[in-house]
Amino acid sequence: METKIIKINNLAEQREELVACADIIKRDGLVIFPTETVYGLGANALSALGAKRIYEAKGRPSDNPLIIHVANPEDASLYAYTSDIYFQLADRFMPGPLTVIMKARDNVPLQTRGGLSTVAVRCPENPIAHELIALSGVPIAAPSANLSGSPSPTTPEHVIDDMLGRVDAIIDGGSCEFGLESTIVKIEDDGSLTLLRPGKITPEDLLSVTEKVNIASAVTNALAKGEVALSPGMKYRHYAPKAPLTLLNGDINKVIKFLSGIDTADVALIAYSEHIELIKASFPSLKIYPFGLMDDEAEQAKSLFAILREIDKGNFRIIYAPLPREVGIGLALYNRMIRASSHTIINL
Ligand code: TXA
Ligand code: MG
Repeated sequence: METKIIKINNLAEQREELVACADIIKRDGLVIFPTETVYGLGANALSALGAKRIYEAKGRPSDNPLIIHVANPEDASLYAYTSDIYFQLADRFMPGPLTVIMKARDNVPLQTRGGLSTVAVRCPENPIAHELIALSGVPIAAPSANLSGSPSPTTPEHVIDDMLGRVDAIIDGGSCEFGLESTIVKIEDDGSLTLLRPGKITPEDLLSVTEKVNIASAVTNALAKGEVALSPGMKYRHYAPKAPLTLLNGDINKVIKFLSGIDTADVALIAYSEHIELIKASFPSLKIYPFGLMDDEAEQAKSLFAILREIDKGNFRIIYAPLPREVGIGLALYNRMIRASSHTIINL
């Protein structure tokens, strides 16, 4: 299929182009759009055909449910059984990078929710996303706009690499602000919260509206053999770079010692900016990918998927990267990186 690429520089002046994209959504077509987290691959969430087309375009198993994106937080009540705790979360974090899982209403097709009785709802903050949903007049189901198994796209180039010819339109809204997918929490029957996927909204943030947040074990650990995933997405391999990724747990001196003991030909190293000169002094020909300053987790979040895609273009034997700290936004980095590495960690 032919894919129209629409670059939005000035939303107010280019409303007509978004109206055309909203028409594609209304006709069960596919439109890729920017959000503050990653690019989304959108279709009418109330259409079984729209959902089917998303799964096909992504090459995604159809039992892995889609997030439905609404223009206003209160619209969630049209598609899910919302409760007090939902509105507390919405008041504090929406619009924004938070997805909430609740019991679904019957108007959300089973195809959209992967056959589950629950539905995931998110109200994005990005103005292009907001406008597209509002103009469509329906909620938009959208997984990350990557081919299943590759890192989520955070730039229009990533989207074009994966999706050109597979969708009706791509809206180019520049780089995504945050760069990792939304935080996902589930509201349990008793009103408690379970964190299923960490993101920019941290467990510490969530504790400002609730007393306790349960963190699903799959956030930081591999699923045990036979364990049922709380979220279908947990059971699929994610963000897998072509060369195997190994995470190094130890300070820079230990990393340098480790590198001295291995053959560094065809190795890609992801390293914090303040360590690069030191590493270069010992390993002048080593290929190093700067990851931002050690304490700048926002920068690391923004660059992680782009770095993994960039490394994939090279012909590396192995990739090494630092193991993030499991606090704040670090928990989201930790979660994505342990999955990309298939839980391969060397304690130095
Ligand atoms: O930031 C984001 O959330 C991006 C942008 C486009 O909004 N979307 C995104 O969607 O990351 P996706 O499909 O790549 O990831 C959604 C995850 C999947 O792992 C899926 O299994 C889980 O959410 N999920 C969706 N509905 C669920 C439900 N009802 N119960 C449990 N998990 C659910
Ligand atoms: Mg995804």
